[in-house]
Amino acid sequence: MTIYTFVFFLINVAPSLQVRFSVIGLDLPLVIHPGEDAVLPCHLSPKINAQNMTIRWFKEKYQNIVHLYQDRGFRIENQMAEYRSRTTLIKDSIVVGSVSLIIRNVQPSDSGLYTCFYNTGSFYEEAVIEVKVAGQSYTFYSENIIMTSLFSHIQPLRNF
Ligand SMILES: *[C@@H]1O[C@H](CO)[C@@H](O)[C@H](O)[C@H]1NC(C)=O
Repeated sequence: MTIYTFVFFLINVAPSLQVRFSVIGLDLPLVIHPGEDAVLPCHLSPKINAQNMTIRWFKEKYQNIVHLYQDRGFRIENQMAEYRSRTTLIKDSIVVGSVSLIIRNVQPSDSGLYTCFYNTGSFYEEAVIEVKVAGQSYTFYSENIIMTSLFSHIQPLRNF
């Protein structure tokens, strides 16, 4: 191989040997009531096997680890204390790049931006999901949800 063909290889062929993908989360905020479980889905396009990737879920900042999947398993070491024993990663479809993070018993303090970050070692991509725990703020949207839940409790009385 001449130096010219080697440079040609580096510029034109090497990048295409890397695995590339985009990560898809949710377009709309996930609205949940306090005490319920949140299910945050993320998947890859195209559908690539993510078993050997690192999948890091973090809140707001990269260092704030909510759940870390690495070396084919859950890594507890740097998980934020407030998520201890509250998260499960559903990996049934990880061979097609799809996972869901379950956060149990959500509280208003769990509201915020969650990122799922997939890393192959040579390529990474991420998606952000917004979680809103209803009842924490007085925006029209969350009031609307509170009203809906009030009416759903009142509804059975109308049957009498
Ligand atoms: C994942 O890693 C294992 C062990 O190194 C290997 O046997 C397997 O083929 C890898 N799978 C994928 C999809 O890369």
